[in-house]
Amino acid sequence: MQPLVDHRQDESSLSEDVFPIFGTDYIEFYVGNARQAAHYYMSVYGFQPLAHRGLQTGNTDLESLVVRQGKITFVFTSPLGSGTEIGKHIDRHGDGVKVCALTVADARQAFEDAVGRGAVPLFEPESTSDDDGVVWSSGIKLYGDTVHVFVERGAYRGLFLPGFEAWNPVYKPEAIGLKYVDHMVANVALGDMDKWVAFYRDVMGFSQIISFDDKDISTRYTALMSKVMSNGNGRIKFPINEPAKGLKKSQIEEYLDFYEGPGVQHIAVATDDIVHTVTEMQKRGAEFLHVPDTYYEELTTRVGNIDEDVAALRKLGILVDRDDQGYLLQIFTKTVNPRPTMFFEIIQRKGATSFGKGNFKALFEAIEREQELRGTL
Ligand code: FE2
Repeated sequence: MQPLVDHRQDESSLSEDVFPIFGTDYIEFYVGNARQAAHYYMSVYGFQPLAHRGLQTGNTDLESLVVRQGKITFVFTSPLGSGTEIGKHIDRHGDGVKVCALTVADARQAFEDAVGRGAVPLFEPESTSDDDGVVWSSGIKLYGDTVHVFVERGAYRGLFLPGFEAWNPVYKPEAIGLKYVDHMVANVALGDMDKWVAFYRDVMGFSQIISFDDKDISTRYTALMSKVMSNGNGRIKFPINEPAKGLKKSQIEEYLDFYEGPGVQHIAVATDDIVHTVTEMQKRGAEFLHVPDTYYEELTTRVGNIDEDVAALRKLGILVDRDDQGYLLQIFTKTVNPRPTMFFEIIQRKGATSFGKGNFKALFEAIEREQELRGTL
């Protein structure tokens, strides 16, 4: 048995939320081959095997593999036959995020509050149990085919969820220092950003902490707009992007075309030592976006003194930005699926609470170079 993920310190600050959310419980991806996906995230991202369900646990319609690192739990699920909802999701979107599960104090109350405030129900509160206790969960719909599941695990001591068994393969690559989900970003259609901002505000009681318009985020060719919604304790942050008019096709439009609708664009995962984490990821085969060398020539003029060795950052392609509370280091992977849809951000915060606005231009130009290579700009 593993200790529960500790989402529960600092509950006093939860007062602004409609219902308390302790943290991201898990993120579930629907993928063509759960085994190979889990292997990739273990090998390259350093996740550890945790739990599984499938034929061996009496589940005849799907297989799920669960991996964990720090407080980050990923679930990879594939169907075992044709014509399933999971299969249709994969056919339409390619591999992608289906579920963003949130740990709540009371999944029945969360459902009642959310639906009462206008959320579209996905499934009513239900309980599952095994020898380790009881879990209550409920679900609501989000943009596109993406959903939130509320998980109440206060009375559960098991590894993951009832129905799963421990997964303990011999192969366990070392962790690389990933700690928690910092933010998870949605791409929605032109004109829909404010609808989803209103959803998080009115249904979930989140507040808008930042907004970027096309003047902040534009290059010669493309632009996007973004608003960041946060829950009361600041542990859950959902930036929501929509495309803005540019001379050529924006990266958001490219996503919406290939994902065939709105969905999760990137997941930012936090580390306390980005140089170590990114060095390991590169060694293990991760591919990152690269900015031109000139970025580093102006770096200390722009962000002032930093603890890290600029030469090391330059070698790895790590970006730096500063706000009035400190600075942050970040780097973005190339898209991880055949379709140019989802990617990851590795972020280390040293006081800064923002999202790297100062890097947007250099970054988007790097994305456009990738789009150009794909012929989709
Ligand atoms: Fe981000």
